Amino acid sequence: MATKKKLCWYVPLVLMICMVVWHSIPFITESRSRNPVDIRNAMSHVKNEISQNVIPILNEQKKINEKYLVYLCDEKRDCGGWGDRQRGIVSLFLLSLVWKRTLKILISTPCDIKPYYKPTKEYNWIFTEEELKGLKGKRNKTLDFMGIDVPLIDINLNSSEIAEVLYIKTNCFHFVEIAQKYVKFLPVYLKNKGRAGIFRESWNRIMIPTDKVLSQVVKIESSGVINSDAKKTGKELVCAHLRTGLTENLNYDYGGFPPVAVTKLWNFIDGHFHNKSRIFVATDHLGIRKSAISKYGIRYIGSYASNVHPDTMRSNLTLACRSQESAYVDQLMLVKCDVLIYYRRSGFSIHASYLKTEWRNIYSILRNGKSTFSLKEAHHN
Ligand SMILES: *[C@@H]1O[C@H](CO)[C@@H](O)[C@H](O)[C@H]1NC(C)=O
Ligand SMILES: *[C@@H]1O[C@H](CO)[C@@H](O)[C@H](O)[C@H]1NC(C)=O
Ligand SMILES: *[C@@H]1O[C@H](CO)[C@@H](O)[C@H](O)[C@H]1NC(C)=O
Ligand SMILES: *[C@@H]1O[C@H](CO)[C@@H](O)[C@H](O)[C@H]1NC(C)=O
Ligand SMILES: [Mg+2]
Repeated sequence: MATKKKLCWYVPLVLMICMVVWHSIPFITESRSRNPVDIRNAMSHVKNEISQNVIPILNEQKKINEKYLVYLCDEKRDCGGWGDRQRGIVSLFLLSLVWKRTLKILISTPCDIKPYYKPTKEYNWIFTEEELKGLKGKRNKTLDFMGIDVPLIDINLNSSEIAEVLYIKTNCFHFVEIAQKYVKFLPVYLKNKGRAGIFRESWNRIMIPTDKVLSQVVKIESSGVINSDAKKTGKELVCAHLRTGLTENLNYDYGGFPPVAVTKLWNFIDGHFHNKSRIFVATDHLGIRKSAISKYGIRYIGSYASNVHPDTMRSNLTLACRSQESAYVDQLMLVKCDVLIYYRRSGFSIHASYLKTEWRNIYSILRNGKSTFSLKEAHHN
């Protein structure tokens, strides 16, 4: 029997809001993992600290004493939207480095994540058959830190009472505070980084979109007419993510992008970019999409992702999986754009901007009253 809960946490420091989620898919066991496995890859953070010839011995010991930190998103409770999940994963990645635990990721709702994201060579976050067998003899514990950051920041995983296999549910987490608190335990690539840098460096080390997802991104990216003069400006593909929150069953005032202000945004685009640039707009609002299509015609290359209410989704798994897949595709498209205009109250949007290879031509917008918005250029670090 499917249940649905509304979810809402404000995190004033980061201005991120979690969205409505729904739960309905049966648990998909990790033993169905399709990816080949190399247990040593999961230990490579240890590898860096010791000389090559000690590795085999260490790995043997590690197999016996190995401890896990597992990001868990199952049907038993809400996990938030994709933005929430990404924050949770990055936070636990940092903690796994600090506490020398092997990071695993279990996302089974509304759809298993494995057809869409795969592990890197360095961090295999899918439990192997061998590891799953080993789990049987280990103590496990599940902690629920959804919407409450402090316990996670202060958790001492050195403490002997903490189970060898620790499952954690978390979303709105201050991963920057973790990185600052434990700076001396983190690798060089995470030191002296801002929020965007910590997120991008962490994410790209663990999560790789699968070909199934990437092929769709490539298809959209190469669609439409690419004008050579527009290309010369370096701002040929202009993208925006406009989350209104209006089609979601939210029980609080989300403060999303006001649809009536969309003309103002088109004016900004017209005034700043080449008139033959291509336009990609990801939105949860059909009116905004229609407006973009009628305004830009063949310049509009998407998104056409289905825009469905969670109520409909939880009763229809086909729809839920398709919708989740197109969310992954849309976010990766936003990452690829020459120009990105993102919405400052959406983790999905913010993370797309963090993940850009170069942090230029990025603008953020935020509702400013009921019918308008403010826009500024973003400078990540
Ligand atoms: C966790 O421990 C309980 C009690 O020992 C056991 O029944 C359960 O199967 C374990 N679950 C996992 C995933 O290891
Ligand atoms: C965990 O304990 C070890 C051994 O006492 C210590 O070296 C390490 O600094 C501790 N880690 C943290 C994050 O406190
Ligand atoms: C696009 O811009 C060019 C150069 O500024 C101008 O000559 C042309 O008329 C514009 N085309 C449209 C459709 O606005
Ligand atoms: C579920 O959604 C899909 C895709 O929109 C649709 O084709 C199908 O008819 C729906 N199934 C049910 C039972 O509503
Ligand atoms: Mg969210």
